[in-house]
Amino acid sequence: MKKIILDADTGIDDALAILYALGSNECELIGITSIYGNVSVDTSVENSLSILDLVEHQNIPVYKGSEAKLGSDTYERREITKKIHGHDGIGDVHIPKSTRSAESKNAVDFLIEACEEHGSELTIVATSPLTNLAKAFTKAPESIKKVGKIVIMGGALTVTGNVTPYAEANIIEDPNAAKTIFESGLPIVMVGLDVTMRTLITLNETKALRKLNTKNSELIADMIDFYFRSYEGRLSGVYGCPLHDPLAVGIALHPELASTLAIDLTVETSGASKGRTIGLMDKLNEGSPSTEVCVQVDESKFIELFMESLKNICK
Ligand code: BDR
Ligand code: CA
Repeated sequence: MKKIILDADTGIDDALAILYALGSNECELIGITSIYGNVSVDTSVENSLSILDLVEHQNIPVYKGSEAKLGSDTYERREITKKIHGHDGIGDVHIPKSTRSAESKNAVDFLIEACEEHGSELTIVATSPLTNLAKAFTKAPESIKKVGKIVIMGGALTVTGNVTPYAEANIIEDPNAAKTIFESGLPIVMVGLDVTMRTLITLNETKALRKLNTKNSELIADMIDFYFRSYEGRLSGVYGCPLHDPLAVGIALHPELASTLAIDLTVETSGASKGRTIGLMDKLNEGSPSTEVCVQVDESKFIELFMESLKNICK
């Protein structure tokens, strides 16, 4: 069992990442740290709690984190994000609201303490802007350096971005935070658009879920179908959606699913290419890069594992 913390801005695919982690026999989800991104941080907390309640995992703690990018106290939700994830962030399918609240400890402190406590046994999977992680690293670098691995859904090395031609959504939300993390020397695995845009599910999968005929399976299939509609016409003829955030959990649990390129990265923080993840020229000739970028993935194997977990959690 791998110990995992999910750092999530809980929209639809973050919710699917939570469900996948909970349904997997290989994963021990020890907490969810919340952050703005697809939704405000408060909605992100609410959505994570609601998803946990839906599948009766009220034991998993949720911590509130950053409200906005580094150096700012305002977050503005992009119009496009409402279309992709719905007004409530989880597909407007009326998932019952949780009555629980976030823990009193802040997400940043939880990340620091968890790295101290679990060290190399811990994997942090960030499926969101990297503000919480950058704050934790700046506050307590020696503690965060004890982490086993940081798997990041974000960035695009060999393909174009999804917000600008250069930038992927999680990175462009806070390019400075992303730069801090990518240049930190921490052991990073980047699960970017290079692989997530190849990992698609379609109506075949939501139909299979519906066939399970449980209350949750319907709701979860409805939520995924909402996500399909937002990708209509964007996936070269395929009607479906990419599994961005679940794939990051998948690669954290099964690194053998991906082929990687070892290279130190940086993030551009200004100009037209703001938010671009790119090789760090100064370190090109140094040995042992700290980042592995996923460039190929066994998508059918992953989708099999993903569906297996979803079926477990929908019982
Ligand atoms: C990433 O951006 C968010 O909208 C998704 O939840 C995912 O983490 C994809 O670019
Ligand atoms: Ca996300």
